[in-house]
Amino acid sequence: MIPAIFFLSSFATAALAAPKVIWEGRLKMNFSAADLDKPTTSPYNAEFVLGAGQKWSEQLLFPSMSVTGPSLFDLGYPDYRKPIEVTINDKSIFTPGGNAQKGFRRSELLPSTNNGTDATVQGTTTLHFSVKEDVHRPLNYSHQYEIVFIETNDFSSHVWTLKTGTPFGSSEVPAKDARTLRLGGSTAGGKAEEVLFSVPFDTGCWHNFAVQTNWVDNTISVWHSTGYGLLSEVVKTRANNATGKGQAHIGILKLPTPPATDLSHEGYQPSDINEGLIYGGLFVEDWSQNGVSRTPW
Ligand SMILES: *[C@@H]1O[C@H](CO)[C@@H](O)[C@H](O)[C@H]1NC(C)=O
Ligand SMILES: *[C@@H]1O[C@H](CO)[C@@H](O)[C@H](O)[C@H]1NC(C)=O
Ligand SMILES: *[C@@H]1O[C@H](CO)[C@@H](O)[C@H](O)[C@H]1NC(C)=O
Ligand SMILES: *[C@@H]1O[C@H](CO)[C@@H](O)[C@H](O)[C@H]1NC(C)=O
Repeated sequence: MIPAIFFLSSFATAALAAPKVIWEGRLKMNFSAADLDKPTTSPYNAEFVLGAGQKWSEQLLFPSMSVTGPSLFDLGYPDYRKPIEVTINDKSIFTPGGNAQKGFRRSELLPSTNNGTDATVQGTTTLHFSVKEDVHRPLNYSHQYEIVFIETNDFSSHVWTLKTGTPFGSSEVPAKDARTLRLGGSTAGGKAEEVLFSVPFDTGCWHNFAVQTNWVDNTISVWHSTGYGLLSEVVKTRANNATGKGQAHIGILKLPTPPATDLSHEGYQPSDINEGLIYGGLFVEDWSQNGVSRTPW
């Protein structure tokens, strides 16, 4: 599972200055699930976003690396970082202020430092992540899922959103392109979302992304690869409204199926679900300090 080239090239490029990591979400192999529940030990927000009464130590799994392989940026010889799996079940109903979001099922990791206006949303920053399907906890492609996104600080819109599944309200269910990863741009001011990049979400394969936002000039750039490939630029720098700053969400937000006008509270969600998505290589870089990492070596 681990490419031989990694061992050969790790020394050759060691002298190059790596971009500066300003938030580190990669977990060491001995990181315990219980440490996810404590703000003092977790690199993620220990409380949000989870179903009422749920804990990260229960909703997050550490899948066997011999099954998943390490993700591209979790290759950190001599010690790898481990993949983490975000799961949802029937109780994954987020209930902020006692108001149950019955239309959604959600479990989303938030970087612990990311309070909406912190350093991860200043200047130009790049969020790295890898994502992979779990064949034993498949998503239901009749639904729309938002699996990594930045929600603006005032919660009114998204700076960008990575989605999969059938778009809510689609006439064809499941939609022909349901099994694709689709990166949409800003929805500020109620703007209709434009799909900037789309790729088949093939089973059994890591998809690696680096999504960069210039929070001053309001632009976005995106890099992508599969497996252990070098990231290549798939969205060249273009305008994208980032004035709302915001918070990164990494995990599962499952939308209901119609009819629903208030999607967070209405619509249909089947019961007895057990779904998951596997993530790895989670970190944020400051572009002003040596650009963007396209490979870990
Ligand atoms: C995990 O391993 C590292 C060495 O790689 C060690 O420094 C650290 O104390 C260990 N943490 C726990 C919780 O065992
Ligand atoms: C967010 O974090 C930054 C950096 O730590 C801090 O300066 C700022 O006051 C925080 N904002 C809020 C609303 O807590
Ligand atoms: C998938 O979702 C659809 C729409 O909610 C539902 O009818 C179907 O039973 C679900 N399939 C599974 C396997 O849960
Ligand atoms: C960006 O969105 C904000 C909030 O909706 C809006 O006030 C502003 O006019 C937008 N900027 C551009 C360039 O569209």
